[in-house]
Amino acid sequence: MLRGDVGLELGQRVATALRASLGVEITPEEALLRPSNRDGVDYQCNVAMSLAKKLGKNPREVATAIVGALDSADAVEEPEIAGPGFINLTLRREWLEEQTFALLGDERLGVPVVERARRIAIDYSSPNVAKEMHVGHLRSTIIGDALTRLLRFVGHEVIPHNHLGDWGTPFGMLIEHLVDVGVNADHTISDLNAFYQEARKKFDADPDFATRSRQRVVSLQGGDEATLALWRELVDESARHFQQAYATLGIGLTAEDNYGESFYNPMLDATIEELERLGLTEVSDGAVCVFPEGFTNRDGDRLPLIVRKGDGGYGYPATDLATFLYWTRERKVDDLLYVVGTPQSQHFQMIFAVARAAGWLTDAHTAVHIGFGSILGEDGKMFRTRAGGTVRLGELLTEAVEQSARAMPEKSEVDPADQPKVAHAIGIGAVKYADLSNDREKDYVFTWDKMLAKTGDTSVYAQYANARARSISRKVGRTPSPSARVILGEPAERALALKLLQLPAAVASAVEGYAPHKLTAYLFETATAFSTFYNECPVKDAASPELQDSRLLLSELVSQVLTLGLSLLGIEAPDRL
Ligand code: ARG
Repeated sequence: MLRGDVGLELGQRVATALRASLGVEITPEEALLRPSNRDGVDYQCNVAMSLAKKLGKNPREVATAIVGALDSADAVEEPEIAGPGFINLTLRREWLEEQTFALLGDERLGVPVVERARRIAIDYSSPNVAKEMHVGHLRSTIIGDALTRLLRFVGHEVIPHNHLGDWGTPFGMLIEHLVDVGVNADHTISDLNAFYQEARKKFDADPDFATRSRQRVVSLQGGDEATLALWRELVDESARHFQQAYATLGIGLTAEDNYGESFYNPMLDATIEELERLGLTEVSDGAVCVFPEGFTNRDGDRLPLIVRKGDGGYGYPATDLATFLYWTRERKVDDLLYVVGTPQSQHFQMIFAVARAAGWLTDAHTAVHIGFGSILGEDGKMFRTRAGGTVRLGELLTEAVEQSARAMPEKSEVDPADQPKVAHAIGIGAVKYADLSNDREKDYVFTWDKMLAKTGDTSVYAQYANARARSISRKVGRTPSPSARVILGEPAERALALKLLQLPAAVASAVEGYAPHKLTAYLFETATAFSTFYNECPVKDAASPELQDSRLLLSELVSQVLTLGLSLLGIEAPDRL
């Protein structure tokens, strides 16, 4: 079988049947095998519908031709053509048992490695220096980390880069403020947001301070040593705050992944000069602009991407163009992914358009803005603290761990010494899962009640299923014997096995659409199938040692699938809950 994936295996057979009967070439994916929720049907093949028109036949004819040539007697019962031309397939029990058993020895649980690995640069997290991370950065961090894990697992080379906002005009006032107040003895700024706001307030109220700040920007850009040292102090201090958040969240980003805006500063001149040489720029209102094709405002006026301001300074767009050039030309990446909130969608579309016009973005590359919606409060408005302030990431994560207590089962099996670790796994897992389980493009409402619910589409539900699956062999007092095999006599066992075999498909669709929620949905279904199995199929009091063996095996697989699936999302799966 094609590494554990039942849908693709059946797709392969349908493809072969199509070639033999109608001389049509398709890939196993194009056979459109989908799990079916009809009673007694495991998979439905929809390819006849999509091919009929092209072949000038009616879909039932196509379906009949496929079924006539299908070599699948070992794997499926007699195929059945339903409705306009769906082919319903029911897996043979022995075949399903064999496939399930084969998963046991496979540490990848059937998930294939891609044939052609790509080198992928992924921009995620990317908070701003001298400001605390807000919930938008939290989303970018969680989604970016999950995508990094998924893409690596399927075999790609993934290079994360944290596009820190560490450069630009605000640093003039921040540095001047730092000069005024000095740093604490331990070189820390305890409250970065307050620091920023104080600087801002002084800038607006005190013309002398504003002048000094502007001069500071000039010194900073001119590379003045003393100014750079102060700037570095601010950057390092912020980076420490970010690093703390990453550690709490279990995010792999390190200082080595920092490619802040300042990193690209020395490349800006050459980048914009290249665009000028290519004849892509125009001077408009004193600023150097590119007007990429296809971007207009409501009145039909062309939209500019300002690449050099009238005063000669560079801004956000110029930096992103230099970033693009650096990762494609210097680092030779194939794909560029940007996990940034949806409000920046137009910015990225324009960057990509300019990069394409400049020949930096070719058909060999993929550049994707992986946008996401906002986190809302229970009132449906922007997520805020009860007092109406911005939610601080540090406080939110601390609360998550505290709140996790309510998701603990009444009779907890956790060793008191492990309690803090488990609370952390539940609390942080809940925050991540709530984020990942929603279609990322949509907004979602942040509610502790919902994200820590013991039953429902939550991480703790999956974590609980995993812990329970692991507890079974402890309760039975033995592990499966060496001669154990999989027996799928009960509907709940069959349904569970079928789910366990669908991890590869879930991972594939999560990767394909940069859509972690496809994987969470699968984990939820798996945990649900396990829970039915747990209720309906006794293990301790199984009717025979063979049946007990089989159920021990299935439980073991459940915990492997859930643990791996959660880990691909950056969520821990404690042994006991
Ligand atoms: N620092 C920016 C912000 O907070 C996000 C940067 C995203 N990445 C990029 N290459 N522009 O909005």
